[in-house]
Amino acid sequence: MNFDRTLIITGGAGFIGSHVVRLFVNKYPNYRIINLDKLTYAGNLANLKDIEDKPNYRFVRMDICDFEGVLKLMQDEHVDGIIHLAAESHVDRSIKDPFTFAQTNVMGTLSLLQAAKIAWDSFEGKRFYHISTDEVYGALEMTNPEGVEPPFTTKASSGQHHLAYGEKFFTEDLKYQPHSPYSAAKASSDHFVRAFHDTYGLPTIVTNCSNNYGPYQFPEKLIPLFINNIRHRKPLPVYGKGENVRDWLYVEDHARAIDLIFHQGKTGETYNIGGFNEWKNIDIVKVLIKTTDRLLGRKEGEDMDLITYVTDRAGHDLRYAIDSTKLQKELGWEPSLQFEEGIEKTVRWYLDNQEWLDNVTSGDYQKYYEQMYAGR
Ligand code: NAD
Ligand code: DAU
Repeated sequence: MNFDRTLIITGGAGFIGSHVVRLFVNKYPNYRIINLDKLTYAGNLANLKDIEDKPNYRFVRMDICDFEGVLKLMQDEHVDGIIHLAAESHVDRSIKDPFTFAQTNVMGTLSLLQAAKIAWDSFEGKRFYHISTDEVYGALEMTNPEGVEPPFTTKASSGQHHLAYGEKFFTEDLKYQPHSPYSAAKASSDHFVRAFHDTYGLPTIVTNCSNNYGPYQFPEKLIPLFINNIRHRKPLPVYGKGENVRDWLYVEDHARAIDLIFHQGKTGETYNIGGFNEWKNIDIVKVLIKTTDRLLGRKEGEDMDLITYVTDRAGHDLRYAIDSTKLQKELGWEPSLQFEEGIEKTVRWYLDNQEWLDNVTSGDYQKYYEQMYAGR
């Protein structure tokens, strides 16, 4: 079969990557989509069961740090675009094991950049799209602890809860001030991507996105972890006082933004992607408890006593809030879901997919992959 384009999506077996792979495989039958993933603890091919047999999809188990392997794959498959999501992504793990984060996020990205530079004789029609995080900008101040009307109006923000906890927002021109080993490694990878654009003319794009939520997120992250714990009436470990603010975006809205930017974004540019949707952790936790209780037929709020305040995360950034005006103005993107709708869908998904949660928490799926790929 002849395809118009061949793209590698790295980290396609992870949370956001699986939504991006699904979107591209279904929306672009004329593109060959190669999901390149090492299948670490966070990678799970069950996330892609519905598309694994499509004729335009191929899975390749590979480490992005394997420069020779990546280069050969790019040459053999005549790859003309890379959407790079593979990374170690959990801040708490980075505090315990910074080396793995530097290796994957920095050296892995460098290996992909170098492979693309060599594989592409001409940069015409090529694109290297690097997915990054808002955490590279560091933490914003909380000047309005009670929350005020934000300066933005979007479809998604016109609804029930929408507050800003400070006057400042992350804009694309802010200087990088990462605090955790995770964000330091992501910041370093962003710098390498821009260096390859400025030095060699590699056609790159970088986006920095806020916190994603939705189906298929590994249950070490706040939202899936807490939904699972509420269901099983286990304690909910809220770090510090639960006052930290995050800006939440439904994962399919992020995937839509990635599609738009991959096709229409300007080479060499950076775009911030966010939900215009700031929440204090403790307020989210209360919404999760109420929603989960209601959907399980329990009395709404009866599980509030599961909230357990624990020692704060080291170097815990106080507030993240993205200003994605540039993306809205230049490419017309905006979040499609109100948070309340997105949370309802998300809680429902985890409650309906207990088997998926049990598999990833038991580690059974890892044993399955080890057998499946033994000797390859
Ligand atoms: P995730 O941890 O769910 O998935 C990461 C994927 O990368 C997994 O499938 C894993 O197997 C794969 N991977 C890890 N190391 C690899 C390696 N060396 N070689 C090949 N594959 C490897 O991550 P996520 O939450 O989906 O995040 C995806 C990307 O988006 C990351 O780059 C992250 O920094 C960025 N991001 C995430 C969020 C968020 O809220 N989750 C927000 C903004 C940006
Ligand atoms: O902002 C984008 C980032 O969002 C991404 O780059 C990261 O890959 C992604 O993991 C996420 O980072 P956070 O650290 O913000 O997400 P996490 O779900 O780990 O935590 C969200 C907030 O909840 C944070 O303030 C810490 C707090 N928390 C988290 C956990 C796991 C708790 O209070 N208790 C917990 O058990």
